[in-house]
Amino acid sequence: MKFGTKAIHAGVHPDPTTGAIMTPIYQTSTYVQRSPGDHKGYEYSRTHNPTRTQLQDALAALDNGTHGLCFASGMAAIDCMVKLLEPGDEVVATNDLYGGSYRIFTRIFAKYGIKFHFVPMHDKEAVRAACNERTKLIWAETPTNPLLHIIDIKAMAEVAKESGALLVVDNTFATPYLQTPLELGADVVMYSLTKYMGGHSDVVMGALVMKDAELAERLAYIQNASGGTPGPQDCFLILRGLKTLHVRMQRHCENGRAVAEYLKQHPKVGQVYWPGFESHPNHQVARQQMRDFGGMISFVLKTDKIEDAVAVLEKFELFSLAESLGGVESLSGHPATMTHASIPAEERRKAGLSDSLIRLSVGIEDAEDLIADLAQAIG
Ligand SMILES: Cc1ncc(COP(=O)(O)O)c(C=O)c1O
Repeated sequence: MKFGTKAIHAGVHPDPTTGAIMTPIYQTSTYVQRSPGDHKGYEYSRTHNPTRTQLQDALAALDNGTHGLCFASGMAAIDCMVKLLEPGDEVVATNDLYGGSYRIFTRIFAKYGIKFHFVPMHDKEAVRAACNERTKLIWAETPTNPLLHIIDIKAMAEVAKESGALLVVDNTFATPYLQTPLELGADVVMYSLTKYMGGHSDVVMGALVMKDAELAERLAYIQNASGGTPGPQDCFLILRGLKTLHVRMQRHCENGRAVAEYLKQHPKVGQVYWPGFESHPNHQVARQQMRDFGGMISFVLKTDKIEDAVAVLEKFELFSLAESLGGVESLSGHPATMTHASIPAEERRKAGLSDSLIRLSVGIEDAEDLIADLAQAIG
């Protein structure tokens, strides 16, 4: 079955009692048992809920995995994944990653004795050098947030195998429409479903997808024990969003290309970060592992002054200044003070993240209008 057909049909079934074609919102916390332990597969909604089950199955199918697990946020999914580890274990993560991931690693899990190494992950040898016999997880995010580096997933899978570690890929920016990490050797795919997967900026949720039944069982145990599970209404909204994922992503990619090319030729714009440019340092890897280049773009003005960047952000009319990304509407952001403020300034600078960087999530409006907005804001 091809991607668009799967996005609409995979994992979902007409409601057995009424024939409702759309998955019902099973707004219930508990389920009646005929006799103790004699039930229909559902006992309590932290553990299982029929709306969530259909979403989890749909997510597994889209990534060509076998098991999906949903969480109340992307952060709850990350929390579950890292709880597989024991004190003394180590994690090698990309140094250009979502600020919230950096925060949970360094401020929450580090105090339980887990050690984190942050390395430029487009450099395979740097990753290999950071691994040792205690390395249990390699944490990749590609394209990275916000510098749009591309990490070679196959190369990371090789290093993970050599070290006996699991490779997790945060696939929030790409979605399974653009790349399917399990097919490139990753063990787990992680999502903030809040972004492109939901696609309408109306729900916060996360997921893990894998194809190893034993690993899925261990993670499902933590999911239930820790309890960061989503409600059925949110699951319904993500299921609805998934049905248009392929159509939305196609348009995000087309508009992303138009905006990136416009910015590149603008006399006041300095570096533009977008993996679709042939001059992008990881363009060849992007071509190999992605089906297109997405709608996330970062750029700096030639002046590289924070006050000039702020003036542009204030002038935008269509690119609303807001946290988050991946919705149908275009958004702009200032990573240094917003999404990445939890990464110390020194670490940000080491990773190449300028304080004047502007990040765009290019929506699915008409490209001409988006370019007109950029023109009036940049001047
Ligand atoms: C790449 C990436 N991973 C994880 C997260 C965390 O997800 P959530 O906000 O759904 O908890 C985000 C949120 O911005 C993100 O951009």
